[in-house]
Amino acid sequence: MSRFFYNSIPIEMAITSSRIGIALLLLLCSIQQLNAQNALVIPPVLNGPQFNLTVQSGTTAFYPNTTTPTYGVNGNLLAPTLIMHTGDQVNISLQNTLNVSTTMHWHGLHVSPMNDGGPHSIIQPGATWNPQFQVMNAAGTFWYHPHGAGQTDPQVSKGLAGMIIVHDAAELALPIPHTYGVDDVPVIIQSKAFDVLQQIAIATEEDTALMVNGTIHPYYNAPSQVLRLRLLNGSSMRVYNIGFSNNKVFYQIATDAGLRDSTLQLTRLRLAPGERSEVLIDLSGMNGQSLQLIAYNAELPNGFYGAAQVGYGTDTIMDYPHNFLNGQNFELLNFQIGAATSGAVYTIPTALVPLTPFTTTGVTNYRSMVLDTLRTLAAIVPTASMGPFGINQHTYDMDTINFVTTKNAKEIWTIYNKTLVAHPFHIHGMHFFLLERSGQAVPKQEQGKKDVVLVYPNDSVKFITQWLDFADDEMPYMYHCHMLHHEDDGMMGQFIVQNAIGIQQLPVSSTTLNFTLSPNPASNKITLSSKSSVNEMLELKLFDWMGQLKWSKLVQANQLPLTIPVENQANGIYLLQVNNQGATQLLKFTIQNK
Ligand code: C2O
Ligand code: CU
Ligand code: CU
Repeated sequence: MSRFFYNSIPIEMAITSSRIGIALLLLLCSIQQLNAQNALVIPPVLNGPQFNLTVQSGTTAFYPNTTTPTYGVNGNLLAPTLIMHTGDQVNISLQNTLNVSTTMHWHGLHVSPMNDGGPHSIIQPGATWNPQFQVMNAAGTFWYHPHGAGQTDPQVSKGLAGMIIVHDAAELALPIPHTYGVDDVPVIIQSKAFDVLQQIAIATEEDTALMVNGTIHPYYNAPSQVLRLRLLNGSSMRVYNIGFSNNKVFYQIATDAGLRDSTLQLTRLRLAPGERSEVLIDLSGMNGQSLQLIAYNAELPNGFYGAAQVGYGTDTIMDYPHNFLNGQNFELLNFQIGAATSGAVYTIPTALVPLTPFTTTGVTNYRSMVLDTLRTLAAIVPTASMGPFGINQHTYDMDTINFVTTKNAKEIWTIYNKTLVAHPFHIHGMHFFLLERSGQAVPKQEQGKKDVVLVYPNDSVKFITQWLDFADDEMPYMYHCHMLHHEDDGMMGQFIVQNAIGIQQLPVSSTTLNFTLSPNPASNKITLSSKSSVNEMLELKLFDWMGQLKWSKLVQANQLPLTIPVENQANGIYLLQVNNQGATQLLKFTIQNK
């Protein structure tokens, strides 16, 4: 499998040059504050189901009189918002006009591995990738970004990221704002690092430039009514502790992968890289006033990227403590409130959509993932709490499949963080529901469909998921830390979802055997008999419906009819494979006793 390379600034050079960069940026920021703020850019929308996307390079003036080379989709920076509807048959044509390879991942969309856009789906310069899939997610806010092995941070930082909005009938029927760019507002929060030449630097400690939708110091002309904000933390490394000025309350209506069952009133919401949240804020009666969306990051505990200390201990190598955003509260977006629109929403609903979290019955696999410093490195780097980090002491290797699971397998994962910094853990292929945080009940703002979960330093979370709908023997799904620098450093693994062996993959039944099973469904035992005479030994194998072998045994033919106890097997569909004198018969039956 071919890997590709990308020229980024060597880290030593980035560190030295970015110190000067900070001074320059501080100067630029103070100049900026004298000027008017910049109108928030609202990314244009593309309505599906056919999407024509071109990944391109261009330039962006983040600051007056500056030109910075950037990447964008159908433009110079960021990407159009893709509007999809549940059930749509989406067809995407994505052309790569960069002079480097790229990839494109539909973060949070439940699609097959082939369409998921992981590191194996490389789009060479000049090539076009054509994923096609049905939208199976319910309404929610998703996003898309490149995912090349070791290339995610450079390409996202240079500008490749966009929002995906999925609508469905239940969501469109809710009395909440629905007018994109008016009362339904995309809010892509990012921080970037610039070097002295105003080039975007992949120096994650120096992300001193804040922006929303690519706009630095943004203001938004908001109508005085209820606003729906689609918050996306698209930053490489920074966690935001979101709130509003004067601690004004707001209402969470969606977690990462879709709507909540009821609104949740909050004054703070922690959003880690990759996470999304939809919130309502009531601006009615505020015509002529302003309100600020604020990162209350002075409140972040140490160990969270964005806090005053990130758990490195005495840190002389990295520039983290010198970053003037760390440990500070800062404004993200200023709402200049004007007249209401016609058809405005003025009330906050209570009930939203019914949610059916996965139940813990029938869980087939338990996995534990340990986020840790790589031991080999710990031996040579005494303050190894700064990484590089791995998962279960492995780093990502394109040619290694870290585990194989079965389609429909229901799994409980426990993620242990043994490092001093918080890591946002993400899985591809399916959303999940948290079962526990820190061994305790799940905080309300995380009760809902999630696909990224922030695992606190020296702590753990537990979630449940199920690999529904898709299987592929070769193309893996990813799981990884969504701190892009960690991901690129290899804090990622991949897994294959295989089809259940089922009838297709077990040997085909021969017509010479004549066995029967009764009763069906069975409760405590089932009886195997034959309608014709049988000689020699019988080999019996019991498989569950996912093709997992439950037991096998050899019996003499003269023991027929044979009673087989099944009271220890879970309810479900089973296959009994009978081998006799070189022939095979498969008998399908159901156990129902609990
Ligand atoms: Cu948003 Cu695997 O990524
Ligand atoms: Cu993803
Ligand atoms: Cu991490």
